[in-house]
Amino acid sequence: MLDTKIALKELEKLNNAPQTTERFQKYLWKSWALNEEFKTMGALSFEEKKKMGSVLSEAKTTLTDAYESKERKLSMEGINQKLNEDLIDISLDGKPLDQGSYSVLALVRREIEEVYKWMWFIIDYGHEIVTKYENFESVNIPLTHPATEMHDTIYLKDTDPSGLLLILRTHNSAHQVEDIMKYGVPLKLGSPGRVYRFENMDASHDTMFRYAEWLVIDKNVSIANFKDTMKKILSWILWKATEIRMRPSYFPFVEPGFEIDAQCTICGGKWCSLCKQSWWIELVGAGMVHPNVITNAGLDPKEWSGFARGIGVSRLAALRYGIKDIRYFTNGDLRFAKSFS
Ligand code: PHE
Repeated sequence: MLDTKIALKELEKLNNAPQTTERFQKYLWKSWALNEEFKTMGALSFEEKKKMGSVLSEAKTTLTDAYESKERKLSMEGINQKLNEDLIDISLDGKPLDQGSYSVLALVRREIEEVYKWMWFIIDYGHEIVTKYENFESVNIPLTHPATEMHDTIYLKDTDPSGLLLILRTHNSAHQVEDIMKYGVPLKLGSPGRVYRFENMDASHDTMFRYAEWLVIDKNVSIANFKDTMKKILSWILWKATEIRMRPSYFPFVEPGFEIDAQCTICGGKWCSLCKQSWWIELVGAGMVHPNVITNAGLDPKEWSGFARGIGVSRLAALRYGIKDIRYFTNGDLRFAKSFS
């Protein structure tokens, strides 16, 4: 007869779950040893059957219970072992993630875009590669103008499909005519973006810099409109009341033209590389749109007028954050780049 004690001893020795299941099939389920025992009961008398039946049932219960609890124990152990192996100590200091941060120029550009939206201007970034016609002639700069020379402008080897020479735009004004034609009039257009010039680099000049232009074309636009919007824009962007001066200037695409300088917030006029001890930093080029530009866009300058202004975003950012040299913006020094996020 099956000895439950031997079976239980055997069970004790087993220490992995699949082996336990396999071994216990020997005693339980289909091929169980107990089955054989039950089979022999047929030949027994009623009394013996009763006795044998209860012994075997008890053995079956004992073995099943023992097997099930052993199996539970083994699988719990398995789970615990796996947990231990994969243990993560959440109390340890983590490695800091190297997080990116916004470039200070992107932050200022976004603010300028907020101003555009607040004043209901359409924003169009234009493109950085343009034809000589777009950059110069369309905005009334004759090709004999010194700005068109190789020493002022960056030329590309390629031409556009119609054979016109391509250059990197020297100002966002290169899109004025195209945009007036594209959006129609009256128009309030903002064009932020990079521009390129063949410059001698110093604290306030770089060969690539960010600019943002405002163009308004409507009927009866006056210098008073220009001054009013200018004040609003600068007080928004500069955060604080900075002294501003307006002086007459010349740009071929405006008539009359002005320049607007802001007070140097870095040195207050004593000495600094940004304002070159002049107290003032040239920040805005502006003027009333030249009738030739309006004509080039297919409009009648007697009916339509407007103003345009361009603000140097890099200089603005330098003024705002007290940065003495605009080359910091692009020199890739991470200590600088990370300090504005
Ligand atoms: N395009 C001029 C520059 O790059 C700035 C400007 C814009 C002047 C609009 C007048 C009107 O310096």
